[in-house]
Amino acid sequence: MDLMEAIKGRRSIRRYKPDPVPEEVFRTVMEAVRWAPSWANTQCWEVIAVKDPRVKSELATALPKGNPALSSMADAPLVLVLCGRKGISGFYKGQATTVKGDWLMFDTGIAMQTLCLAAYSLGLGTVVVGMFDHKKAEEILGVPGDVEVVAMTPLGYPATEGRTRKRKDISEFVFPDRYGKKD
Ligand SMILES: Cc1cc2nc3c(=O)[nH]c(=O)nc-3n(C[C@H](O)[C@H](O)[C@H](O)COP(=O)(O)O)c2cc1C
Repeated sequence: MDLMEAIKGRRSIRRYKPDPVPEEVFRTVMEAVRWAPSWANTQCWEVIAVKDPRVKSELATALPKGNPALSSMADAPLVLVLCGRKGISGFYKGQATTVKGDWLMFDTGIAMQTLCLAAYSLGLGTVVVGMFDHKKAEEILGVPGDVEVVAMTPLGYPATEGRTRKRKDISEFVFPDRYGKKD
């Protein structure tokens, strides 16, 4: 699939078929994550691939009732929980090198988008899920203190097409030379 086609065609999928994701397809998606860029190649991401229906439904309790992705947690055959190891990305000899501190959110964000695009190119659906009780998810999954859960996504074959949501025009976020300047 052409890259621009993947970038523009990927949509958040919130309804899934129960069909399992073949192991080699899953590994191809993880291979894409493997090649994501990261701060000094620190690769702070870790992925928990949740297949056990009991763990998936327990994880779903960490989402607020109003989260539109809630039902997809049970429907999809897999839920991938993207974690970040703390104190690595953006650090040199234990010291933060920029005012931004830990770049974990940035690196795991890139990894997540890489995952979503690779999944889409293989006919799979994803939706980034960020609105949930992170502490609860960490407890359910036994995540140690030096690692944090950042976001999750169901992974499976779409049961519906995603709705295409309006995007800003390029002129609304690109400024020539100085912030806020218009052509
Ligand atoms: C950081 C982040 C967190 C998100 N959290 C949620 C979420 O908790 N629940 C949900 O249904 N969608 C969530 N989304 C999906 C967005 O709503 C979606 O990407 C956006 O509306 C654009 O739609 P599209 O992905 O179909 O292009 C999240 C997306 C991002 C990038």
